[in-house]
Amino acid sequence: MADNLDWTNADLDKLDVDAYAARAEEMAARLSQETAAGRLPFLTMPYAASLKEQLGELKGYLKKFDHMLLLGIGGSALGARALQQAFFPQQDQPGHDGPYLWIADNVDAYALEAYLAKLPAEKTVIVTVSKSGGTIETVGQYFILKEWAQERLGDKWAEHMLLVTDEKQGFLRGEVEQYGIKALPVPDNLGGRYSVLSAVGLIPALFLGMDIDALMAGAREVADILADPGLTGDALKKHSSFQLAVWGAALLDKGFDEMIFFAYIPLWASFGDWFAQLWAESLGKEGKGSQPVPAIGVTDQHSVNQMFMDGIRNKACLFLTCPNLPAGPKFPSDLPDQFGYVRGKDFGELIQAEGLGTRMALSKNGVPLVELQMGEDGPRQAGKLIALLGAATILTGWLMDINPLDQPAVELGKRLAKARMDADGLAEEKADLNEFLTADRDIREF
Ligand code: PA5
Repeated sequence: MADNLDWTNADLDKLDVDAYAARAEEMAARLSQETAAGRLPFLTMPYAASLKEQLGELKGYLKKFDHMLLLGIGGSALGARALQQAFFPQQDQPGHDGPYLWIADNVDAYALEAYLAKLPAEKTVIVTVSKSGGTIETVGQYFILKEWAQERLGDKWAEHMLLVTDEKQGFLRGEVEQYGIKALPVPDNLGGRYSVLSAVGLIPALFLGMDIDALMAGAREVADILADPGLTGDALKKHSSFQLAVWGAALLDKGFDEMIFFAYIPLWASFGDWFAQLWAESLGKEGKGSQPVPAIGVTDQHSVNQMFMDGIRNKACLFLTCPNLPAGPKFPSDLPDQFGYVRGKDFGELIQAEGLGTRMALSKNGVPLVELQMGEDGPRQAGKLIALLGAATILTGWLMDINPLDQPAVELGKRLAKARMDADGLAEEKADLNEFLTADRDIREF
């Protein structure tokens, strides 16, 4: 079955989409220019062949381990988690006995203590993922795990480390050189939230035995046309990523400043977190953008859905479905009359009915909605989804006249935290902190 976008309830007639659609030629030219300059490896994937080779070489090495502890944060972790949840749910199910992927993407002393106390060093590979090689949440954990590995494994500690970082620069690159640690590069110009289809997401995927070729092939189906140097405005106009971008930009003009990502493929729920980072870090600029709201079907029908249906009318929705989810067990046929409508039916019928019900209800309640209907819930479709949403995000940013590839506003909090830890320099931040902390505070016990 084909993968489709259903635009029926997108409310295109109520939005000024023409003004944005008219920029197709300009956007096509920009794509050609940026891809030619090597600034969009997310779409061109020039690294794909060498990465395939490197992953092939890594396969045997990874087989030696039962546990992979991935240290990373933001774009260096969210894609890996989405893939893990979607294609390796076994780890959260009864009876699983490996392999295990643990993703340490927070400053969580409780979790870290548990890893240190319980992971068997001989059977564990520690994968540190940081493009910059300097993110304190990640590198801080690396320091602790390095000491842990040295204490337990002696001279062999470096054999249990794998680094994914910039090819040339950063602290972690220095570690590669100093200790001869195995490393795979994060390609130039590939920002964290666009990097799941590089070593960043594919090393954990390989460890868990996912079909990486299918994932990459799916992404190419969507991205190749955008990466074509001869891309025309007419071809771009027909591309779903551009159509989503036109819709996304036009929604903002009408005050739709929240974008729900409602996943009715339960195992794909973590793509909501991946999408949230992609959309928020890329588009939240210069007072513009829409707040991504990840939601899980059907779970969140009993949670935040009331707000979607009847709260402030500022929400649009990307609604992810797959008509070919597993049927699951059958409901017994001797159910009480009250539940007669499910007697003998497949358990899986329920999610389809509830998805339909929620989708219709959202539309009736004035939520512009595009259904992302995946023909199957396999890795090829996941690759297509990743490429589609990544490209749509970049194009939405360009149509909004902002830069979707940076995230300057997140730096201030990081600098203040460093100042708090008494890092060198940062005199201005230290003075600001002092002022903040010594101001009269309004504190009330509860
Ligand atoms: O999308 C991004 O660029 C960020 O979320 C980064 O992935 C995150 O800040 C981690 O950065 P790094 O990989 O350099 O440690």
